[in-house]
Amino acid sequence: MPEPELDIHLDADEWAPQLRNDVLEGLTSSPKTLPPKWFYDDRGSDLFDQITRLPEYYPTEAERQILHARAGEIAALSAADTLIELGSGTSDKTRVLLDAFTATGQLVRFVPFDVSEQTLIDAAKVIGEDYPDLRIHGVVGDFERHLGTLPSGGRRVIVFLGGTIGNFAPAQRRDFLEQVVATLNPGDSFVLGTDLVKDSGRLVAAYDDSQGVTAEFNKNVLSVVNKHLDANFDPDTFEHVAVFDEENAWIEMRLRSLVDQTVHIADLDLDVSFAAGEEMRTEISAKFTRDRVADELADVGLDLLDWWTDTAGDYALSISTCR
Ligand SMILES: C[S@@+](CC[C@H](N)C(=O)[O-])C[C@H]1O[C@@H](n2cnc3c(N)ncnc32)[C@H](O)[C@@H]1O
Repeated sequence: MPEPELDIHLDADEWAPQLRNDVLEGLTSSPKTLPPKWFYDDRGSDLFDQITRLPEYYPTEAERQILHARAGEIAALSAADTLIELGSGTSDKTRVLLDAFTATGQLVRFVPFDVSEQTLIDAAKVIGEDYPDLRIHGVVGDFERHLGTLPSGGRRVIVFLGGTIGNFAPAQRRDFLEQVVATLNPGDSFVLGTDLVKDSGRLVAAYDDSQGVTAEFNKNVLSVVNKHLDANFDPDTFEHVAVFDEENAWIEMRLRSLVDQTVHIADLDLDVSFAAGEEMRTEISAKFTRDRVADELADVGLDLLDWWTDTAGDYALSISTCR
């Protein structure tokens, strides 16, 4: 079994200035924000993995159900020999696709791509052991900046699971989709997982579970800023908030300051004041309809080939191809 190849586009030299820029921009804007990619240090990735097993968090099982039902069709429609997974995390559900693609004998290469280096290395290693005939080529990078570095060659399918596309605001989402299209060759395909608009009570419960794991995940971003920018956030003085914004059709996760306080971020030489009750946005998670997905894909030159939901109609997977 060959050792997994690994490209690192986001090492400490790049990571730190990006975090500094994002934190400076986010904490000096009004309302304050922090981007979700900074949740995912080793602890954040582990907490996300726990979230996927919570009873309230239906998207993971819904997506797994669709993958089990449709993986063979996805392999046939894409005819790909290279499967690239963006925001791959542990690549746990992806095994359903890998099984279907390897069963046809067509797959030669798997390219997991994630911002979280250790999670990616661990996932690449176990997948390499379990699929010894596949070439594993891991990429540590930011999918908003490094898609141009994806390994080329062969017929490729890019998969983007977990509803992660919902974490982009609409303009960012369009930029991202344009970059995906720019990396695809005619005939390559794109498989996208999207959570669907539904009853707001179930949506909020999925982002505010009874065991408090999502709250820990949300507050983890404060620990990341403390650790890497020498800040003194006290996570116990913030509470987790999840609300559904009907107008924008997205969940917002926020951190609400419980007290009047000033946080010092030594590496930025910055003091940031929070009033008691002030909320800082840490993530949005947009919810979709079929028309919206098809329109947004068409806007960037991707034609929808097929669309599948789970039996409850909670979640959808689509496959599209480059014109
Ligand atoms: C919502 S989780 C989904 C994980 C997995 N695909 C799933 O379906 O369970 C988002 C994943 O995207 C990764 N991620 C977040 N922002 C990223 C970025 N800007 N570039 C690359 N990976 C990113 C995280 O580390 C995490 O593994």
